[in-house]
Amino acid sequence: MIEARDLRVDLCGIELAHPVLNGSGTFDAIAAHDVFGDILLERFPFSAFVSKTITPEPRPGNPPPRLWEETDGVINSIGLPNKGLGGFLEKDLPRLAALPVPLIVSVMATSAEEFAGLVQAISERSEVAAIELNVSCPNVKSGLVVGESPDECASLVSALRVLTEKPLIVKLTPGADPVPVAMAAETSGADAFSLVNTLKASPLSPAGDGHWLGAVSGGLSGPTIKDLALAQVSAVADAVGLPVIGMGGVSSGADARSFLEAGASAVAVGTENFRDPEAGSRIARELEDLG
Ligand SMILES: Cc1cc2nc3c(=O)[nH]c(=O)nc-3n(C[C@H](O)[C@H](O)[C@H](O)COP(=O)(O)O)c2cc1C
Repeated sequence: MIEARDLRVDLCGIELAHPVLNGSGTFDAIAAHDVFGDILLERFPFSAFVSKTITPEPRPGNPPPRLWEETDGVINSIGLPNKGLGGFLEKDLPRLAALPVPLIVSVMATSAEEFAGLVQAISERSEVAAIELNVSCPNVKSGLVVGESPDECASLVSALRVLTEKPLIVKLTPGADPVPVAMAAETSGADAFSLVNTLKASPLSPAGDGHWLGAVSGGLSGPTIKDLALAQVSAVADAVGLPVIGMGGVSSGADARSFLEAGASAVAVGTENFRDPEAGSRIARELEDLG
C-alpha cells in the first residue's frame, strides 16, 4: 500500500495542512465565496489565506487599462485598490476569519508611522495568524523603495517588531538583489520572507500609440518569471535561517517542488489562480503525487 505523503508544514509556528498558499491580491476569497458558495470553504484551495494588501486609507487603484496579457504571464497595474484599514476591519475581516485556514494580512504604507498604525490595529485581532509586510512602496520621506534598501527595510522591521508578537513576513521585491535586504530584515526581527513580488514592466499599445497601461507601468507575473524567482528564492533561502515562501509562476506541482527544492518552506500561487480557481488544491495534490 502506498502511504499518502505528509505535506504538513510549520510556518513560524502556524500549522499548515500543505505548503500551498495564495499570493496576495490574486484570489478574492470573499468574491469566490459569493460565487461558489460554501463548497469553497469545504474545498478551500490554500493552506493559509493571504489577504489583498491593505493600506491605511481606501484606494481606488490605477486608471484603466490595468492588465496586459503576455504569452506566458500578465502585467498588472491594478494599483492596490482596497477599502483601507477601517473598511477592511469592518467589512472584510469578519468574512476572511470564517475561512477554514489561518489568515495572513498583507499591509503596505509609505512611512514607518503609517505601517505602525496598520500593524498595531491588525495585531490586536486574534483572527489574524501573521502579518505580511509588502515593502514594494517608496518611503515618502526618503524616496527609496523600502524593499530595495537593506537600511530602510531593517529600520522598518525594527520599528514594527516591538509592536506585535505575531509573525512578521517580509515580502521582498525582485527589483533589487533581495539577499542583503533579507539579511538586514532577519537581524531586525523578521520571522519569514516571501518572494517574489512582480517585476516592473511597461507594455506598449499594439496600436503603436504609446503605453498600454493607464498607469504606464505595472508588474509582470506568471510562468515567464519563474526561473528568475527560483534563483532569488534559492539565494535568499541560502542566506537566511528563516522560512521562505517562494512564488513566481507556480502553476503545477512540479513547479512547487522546484521552489521547495530551492529552499522554500512553502509556495504561493498567484497568476495561475485567474486561470484555474482551484489551482491551489490541484497543485497540492500534484505535489503529493510526486512523492
Ligand atoms: C493582479 C495581481 C494583483 C496583485 N496584488 C498584490 C497585492 O495586493 N499585494 C502583493 O504583495 N502582491 C500582489 N501581487 C503579486 C503576487 O502576490 C505575486 O507576488 C506575484 O504575482 C508573483 O507570483 P505569480 O507569478 O504566481 O503571480 C499581485 C499580482 C497580480 C497578478
